[in-house]
Amino acid sequence: MRVFGTPNMLTADGTDHADLRTGIAPVLRPDRVSRYIDALVRPIARDYLARLTSAQPGPNGEVGGVAVARVARAELMSNCFEPVSVESLRRVMGLDGLVDATALRRWFADLNFGLTNFTHDPAAPDVADATNAEIESVLIPLLGRLRRKSDDSMLAHMLWAGRPDGDPRPIEHLLPSLKVILLGGMQEPGHAAGSTLLGLFTRPDQLARLYAAPADLAPLAVHEGLRWIAPIGTIEREARHEITIGGVVIPAGAQLEVVIASANRDERQFANPDKFDIDRSSRAGSSRMAMPASPAGSSARRRASRHAGPPPSPVTGLGGRSHYAVPARSS
Ligand code: HEM
Repeated sequence: MRVFGTPNMLTADGTDHADLRTGIAPVLRPDRVSRYIDALVRPIARDYLARLTSAQPGPNGEVGGVAVARVARAELMSNCFEPVSVESLRRVMGLDGLVDATALRRWFADLNFGLTNFTHDPAAPDVADATNAEIESVLIPLLGRLRRKSDDSMLAHMLWAGRPDGDPRPIEHLLPSLKVILLGGMQEPGHAAGSTLLGLFTRPDQLARLYAAPADLAPLAVHEGLRWIAPIGTIEREARHEITIGGVVIPAGAQLEVVIASANRDERQFANPDKFDIDRSSRAGSSRMAMPASPAGSSARRRASRHAGPPPSPVTGLGGRSHYAVPARSS
């Protein structure tokens, strides 16, 4: 609550939730996403892949892999997946020219630090608060402009979709959900791409098949990547009434942080659950088990992750809730 504020789409129910969804659905509906996603993400992905092999610093000073005569090395998460993810969504949201990819990545890292803070680091709340203030210093003036003159960006839809003329949603009503998107929407697609690539590195046979038939197999690979390493391993819920689960009594009103990452490795659901396998017939895996039937962003994230480029191997480097690094080498 302190990190995002209220109301936000993750914690709101009923009409509040439906109203917030009305604002973002127009841009994130699968039919709409399928019309813009290729033209949007492919050039950005190609640009970052080109930088990896040319070793030219990007516009924000980031340096791609070190290209030498026969071996290329790169840390793909920070030099490709995360920047591609944030650049793509930045354009969808209408933040071009206001904030760069480096700042967006810092924003989601800081919000995540404040939100998860598994190590109870005393600095985390202040870091998240400072980033929240920075985010608001960018978003509030922009939303103010969009209240006066709308455009086709996601932020404009959040203000105006489903509202009577001249009566947009209040800015403070939207900021908490925007922070959810600035964290999850910006971060998760890149991390999902990283999980998928890591999995494919363990299956050179399946990687070769994917190269041969990317349109057919990339969606399966992304789905399996989300199962194999769920980018989000916990859900927050409040118990509406007392309930006993596994012999533990949970009182009414208890705030729960439910760790569910292991569900995607449940051997009752998945044969050889630790193995990455794009041929699984079971499609039950979810990156987070309490995911609504059609959460906002689900189409964007599966499709955006398809644009990961040809991966080198081998790799190491996973940490914490999600990826910190995907170092890779090709020869
Ligand atoms: C691989 C990428 C992504 C993953 C794994 C992911 C995961 C999730 C999960 C598990 C939820 C449900 C949370 C809950 O009910 O407690 C969720 C909700 C949400 N996601 Fe994502 N997400 C991804 C990408 C995106 C993108 C690209 C956007 C926006 C552009 C986005 C925006 C949202 C929003 C607004 C919600 C709240 C939806 C609602 O409550 O109706 N997500 N996401």
